[in-house]
Amino acid sequence: MQQSKFSQKFSDDLGVIQLMDDLGTYVGKPGYIMLGGGNPARIPDVEAYFQQATAELLEDEDRFKSIIGTYSAPGGENEFRAELARYLNEKYDWPITADNISLTNGSQTTFFYLFNMFAGAFEDGSHKKILLPIAPEYIGYKDAGLSPDMFRAVRPEITLLEDNLFKYRVDFDALEVGEDVGAICVSRPTNPTGNVLDGDEMAQLSQLAKDHNLPFIVDNAYGLPFPNIIFSDEAPTWEPHMIMCMSLSKLGLPGLRTGIIIANEAITRKIESMNAVISLAPGSLGPALALNGLKTGAINRLSDNLIRPYYEKTVWEMVSFLRTSLEGVDFYIHKPEGAIFVWLWFPNLPITSQELYEKLRDRGVLVIPGEHFFPGLPEDESNPWQHRYECIRVSYAADPDLLQQGAQIIGEVVKQLSAK
Ligand SMILES: Cc1ncc(COP(=O)(O)O)c(C=O)c1O
Repeated sequence: MQQSKFSQKFSDDLGVIQLMDDLGTYVGKPGYIMLGGGNPARIPDVEAYFQQATAELLEDEDRFKSIIGTYSAPGGENEFRAELARYLNEKYDWPITADNISLTNGSQTTFFYLFNMFAGAFEDGSHKKILLPIAPEYIGYKDAGLSPDMFRAVRPEITLLEDNLFKYRVDFDALEVGEDVGAICVSRPTNPTGNVLDGDEMAQLSQLAKDHNLPFIVDNAYGLPFPNIIFSDEAPTWEPHMIMCMSLSKLGLPGLRTGIIIANEAITRKIESMNAVISLAPGSLGPALALNGLKTGAINRLSDNLIRPYYEKTVWEMVSFLRTSLEGVDFYIHKPEGAIFVWLWFPNLPITSQELYEKLRDRGVLVIPGEHFFPGLPEDESNPWQHRYECIRVSYAADPDLLQQGAQIIGEVVKQLSAK
C-alpha cells in the first residue's frame, strides 16, 4: 500500500526508534540493568503524595466526574492554567496570566508543535531551522521536524575541570544567527549531559533571539520551579519572546503526559488551535493531580525537599562508583549540574559509542550511545570531531542498588577495550 511522505517520515529504521525498541525489549528483563531510559526515579514519598492526591480526587465525586467526563478547553484545564499563572507571578514575578499558558499531551508533543511552527518551509520560499546553540542536545528533538534538515547545532567549547570532570559551554564565536534560523532552542538542564547554561549564557542567547526577532525556546523539563532537578538556585526568567516549556513528567507523572508552555498570547492561541486539530484537548488528569499542590505549596516541598536532594545525592554517588570502576582509564564525566543522567566521555575510545552500547548490552547494562545526541550537527570532513562517538549517557534514576553494579560493568568493558 502506498503511503505519503508524512508516513515515510515515521519509518521503522529511524535510529532512535530502533534504539527505543531495543531498550523496550530489555525493560524489566531479569538480569538487565536499565540505565538507558528517561523515566524519573521512583521516590516513595513522592509516589505516596500523588497516590493520596488521586484518592482525594476519587472521593470528590463532582470533580472526578468533571475531570474524566469532559474535554478540557483546547489550551488545557482552565483552573490549572489560572493557578499556575498565579503561582509563577508570586514565585518569579513573571508578567503572565492564564492566557500565556497552554498545556499539551507532554513536552514531546510541545516540541513537535514548536519546531514545525518556527522551522521548515515558509511562505516566502525560505527554509528555516531551529538553532541548537550547544550540542549535544536532547535526542527527542531529532525526528520531531516534518521537513528534512530542521536543525543546525553548534559544537561547544570544552573546559576540563579537576577530578575527571569537564564542562561544555556555548561557543558564542561560532554561533551565527543568519536568515536560515527560525528559533533558538536549548534544554536547561540539558539532556543528555546534565549541563546547566549559566545566567550569562542564557542572557546572551535571549538577547540574540530578541535582536533577530526570534523566539527563544527553553526546555525546562528538569528545571525550576518543578521538578527542580537543577543543582543551582538561579531564578528562571521569562519575557514575551521566550517560550518556556515545562512538564509534569519528571515530577513523577510521566504516564499522565502533561506538557506546559508559557509563551506570549499569540503563540498560546496557536498552540490551542494545534491541540484542537490534533487531539481536541490535552488530558486533564495530570493538571488535576498537580493543582492542589500548586495552591498549598506541596509541589514546592516535593521538588525542593525530596526530588532535588534525592538526585543531587545520587548523582554524586554514581560519579563516585564510576571513578572507582574506571580507575586507570582515560575518562571524563560532565560536571553534574542537573537532569537525571551522567554523561561519560572516553577520549580515544577505539570503537564508536554505538559499538560500546552493544558491548555493554551484551553484558546486561543498557545505556544510550552518545552519538545520537547531536541533531543538526553535520559531519565535517575537513574538521572531523571524534568526540561525538566517544560518549555515553547513563541514567542514574534507576534502582539505587543497581547503580554500583552498572558502573562496575561499564568499568570492566571499557578497561578491556583500552587493554587491546
Ligand atoms: C530535555 C527533555 N525535554 C522533553 C522531554 C519530554 O518529556 P515529556 O514529553 O514526558 O514531557 C524529555 C524527556 O525525557 C527531556 O529529557
